[in-house]
Amino acid sequence: MSETQVHETKPEWKERAWIDAQTYEAWYRESVEDPDGFWGKHGKRIDWFKPYTKVKNTSFEGNVSIKWFEDGELNVSYNCLDRHLEKRGDQVAIIWEGDDPNEDRKITYRELHAEVCKLANVLKSRGVKKGDRVTIYMPMIPEAAAAMLACTRIGAIHSVVFGGFSPDSLAGRIIDCQSDFVITADQGLRGGRTIPLKENTDKAIEIAEQSGAKVRHVLVVRRTGGQVGWQDGRDLWYHEEMEKASAECEPEHMNAEDPLFILYTSGSTGKPKGVLHTTGGYLVYASMTHQYVFDYHDGDIYWCTADVGWVTGHSYIVYGPLANGAITLMFEGVPNYPDSSRFWQVVDKHQVNIFYTAPTAIRALMGAGDEFVTKTSRKSLRLLGSVGEPINPEAWEWYYRVVGEERCPIVDTWWQTETGGILITPLPGAIPLKAGSATKPFFGVKPEIVDNDGNPLEGPCSGNLCIIDSWPGQMRTVYGDHERFVQTYFSTYKGKYFTGDGCRRDEDGYYWITGRVDDVLNVSGHRMGTAEIESALVSHPKVSEAAVVGYPHEIKGQGIYCYVTLMAGVTPSEELKKELVAHVRKEIGPIAAPDKIQFAPGLPKTRSGKIMRRILRKIAEDDYTSLGDTSTLADPSVVNDLVENRQNRH
Ligand code: WTA
Repeated sequence: MSETQVHETKPEWKERAWIDAQTYEAWYRESVEDPDGFWGKHGKRIDWFKPYTKVKNTSFEGNVSIKWFEDGELNVSYNCLDRHLEKRGDQVAIIWEGDDPNEDRKITYRELHAEVCKLANVLKSRGVKKGDRVTIYMPMIPEAAAAMLACTRIGAIHSVVFGGFSPDSLAGRIIDCQSDFVITADQGLRGGRTIPLKENTDKAIEIAEQSGAKVRHVLVVRRTGGQVGWQDGRDLWYHEEMEKASAECEPEHMNAEDPLFILYTSGSTGKPKGVLHTTGGYLVYASMTHQYVFDYHDGDIYWCTADVGWVTGHSYIVYGPLANGAITLMFEGVPNYPDSSRFWQVVDKHQVNIFYTAPTAIRALMGAGDEFVTKTSRKSLRLLGSVGEPINPEAWEWYYRVVGEERCPIVDTWWQTETGGILITPLPGAIPLKAGSATKPFFGVKPEIVDNDGNPLEGPCSGNLCIIDSWPGQMRTVYGDHERFVQTYFSTYKGKYFTGDGCRRDEDGYYWITGRVDDVLNVSGHRMGTAEIESALVSHPKVSEAAVVGYPHEIKGQGIYCYVTLMAGVTPSEELKKELVAHVRKEIGPIAAPDKIQFAPGLPKTRSGKIMRRILRKIAEDDYTSLGDTSTLADPSVVNDLVENRQNRH
């Protein structure tokens, strides 16, 4: 193991931080020894129409049941908007920075409140009711946040689908949650290029309707003014509907355990799962982690570069920050447009204090050269964050030294769509940093590292990361399939939530996430199931079989490596590879485009027909000299051909 550098907590970090080392220790102890007392107290950080009398009622055993604050009533949009009006109605809530550096907007809490109330009335007038599922397929514009909040105002459940997903993926998500209302835009704009969101929506609805789904309305924001198809009666312009709507809308009183949103995410098997989060616990957890992890103080300008299509955008662009009355920056563009200085130019332009991004962006910008960074000021920056995948120590040190000029602590936050909020993270005033470590658990989080048989490991160790007790932000179920929830997360190690991640704990009790140990890939911080990509490949008429594995990729973290067996008589060619890449892009979306395709006459299988991915991973990594035991293969000779034709040679 290489020497890791410890960065001690600087006095100035400690001074301004909400949480110092002693407070962390004391609160952490209380949070795990007396969760009812701890969360009973901290649950009050948000406003309740009806206060809760019960706090925690959770079990990871049997049918798994998770309830927090179960008799309380609240409304998320009320907490994110109404309750701030008196004190900070005229404070900016959202700073929007367009893809084009000349475009920006500032929206105050009062303005956002009016927008959300109007939109909630539009939804109501078009028949959306409490409990209905609304699909949001939007670019990064303030209307996306307004759409989410408008749903919460009337108790509708939103399902945000990332704008980079294909019509097929969108259709699958519309079908799965039986959503009959879609909010989208004419086109998105990213890196100077348009994305045909309305056209994709039209195609998705066509596909979904073949499976019996019925979409009643599509509400369309005019973003670019580009040409779109139109179905009278079904399609509605956002601006026309909003003109007619009243800006008064009473927030629905929701039970703490009423569903708040569904967010689809990939697992190791099958189709993406609809992760369901509920109202009370989620909001308490998102707002509390946002305040303490990013050490948010009144007036700070906070920027999370994620997309609202991912959980990071939900919890740390919209819900956490707005519940805290923060100023949250929303960015439509990409890190390298117009050039690789863009992030830092935006930081200077809006005087950003807190900046939260993904390792893949950091690595790409590091590769572009320091001068893109150093020619900007960045003096406003005070804290940096990282999320989405393990950050390698080199990228961490570069972020710390070049971007933050050794002035800003880095919070490397580990969490998942399923966890709702950050679970393992430094708190900037409390915990000395180690480059590449997510450090310690947040309040109420009980990590456990287990061996492959589920035995808990003590002290410094390496194994599989489980969480052994519930926290308020935890997902409650897989939408419409509770059995799958129990199977996926609580059956590998009985009675424990299994994260799917590998993890090491060092001699100081710091946690180091080593990446997924299941068949989930993490490509540029985007989660993808190998099974999904395989099924996209075999849906191509020339493909008979496919196996997909990840391999280390300098910028993306992991690259997508596909072994493809063709139908008899089909000739392998470079053109066919391109065709297959295009096919996967069409089926899932550009984020799933294969990096390498290897045509394989046969795949290594056991005699019972199970593909031995271990071998495929090794070959993809160009580590074919240590393939381990191949004697159990049905046909050991296929391995030679695979090694011979490997696509990664170092
Ligand atoms: C990975 C994103 C290491 C991990 C919030 C996890 C990380 C998956 C980190 C969840 C981190 C996320 N260090 N790995 N700081 N953050 N991951 O659901 O493998 O899109 O299981 O949620 O990303 O991805 P998801």
